[in-house]
Amino acid sequence: MAIKPVLKMGHPLLRQQAAAVTEFNTDELHQLIADLFDTMRATGGVGIAAPQIGVSLQVVIFGFERSDRYPHAEPVPETVLINPILTPLGTEREAGWEGCLSVPGLRGNVERYRQLHYSGQDAYGQQIDRQVSGFHARVVQHEVDHLLGILYPQRLHDLSLFGFNDSLFPELPAETAG
Ligand code: NI
Repeated sequence: MAIKPVLKMGHPLLRQQAAAVTEFNTDELHQLIADLFDTMRATGGVGIAAPQIGVSLQVVIFGFERSDRYPHAEPVPETVLINPILTPLGTEREAGWEGCLSVPGLRGNVERYRQLHYSGQDAYGQQIDRQVSGFHARVVQHEVDHLLGILYPQRLHDLSLFGFNDSLFPELPAETAG
């Protein structure tokens, strides 16, 4: 296990554009992905991006069967996505609550594209192509934003819909890390 410390909002690395991965199926890349999974599971997150653990590369992971942090969200398949490209399908956007391991204890209401296509590679360089909607689409948009140096508070459309998780959603289990 290598649970890494998660960088918090304000750290310069979280504002940086991450570099593309050029070599696949390397020990370093597999180690990074293992660290991301260990850290995501230890913190109860539904996704995490490499810059959040201090590695400025275009690598994100996400997915869960059931999340205590998002008890009403439909499951998202466990995915390793490298060098992602997002293409919104249509112009429809929907508002939803998001949290972030780099913005612990808070939630904000963010508008995201409802439906999109994403592509990229897995750890072995195999091509990934998917069309998704709803929470899956939201999670991908949130994680890919990390690779662009953007955190969800920069996407808020209404600052009155931003607050502490335990005040907004007292019914959810107390969070320790996000
Ligand atoms: Ni995040």
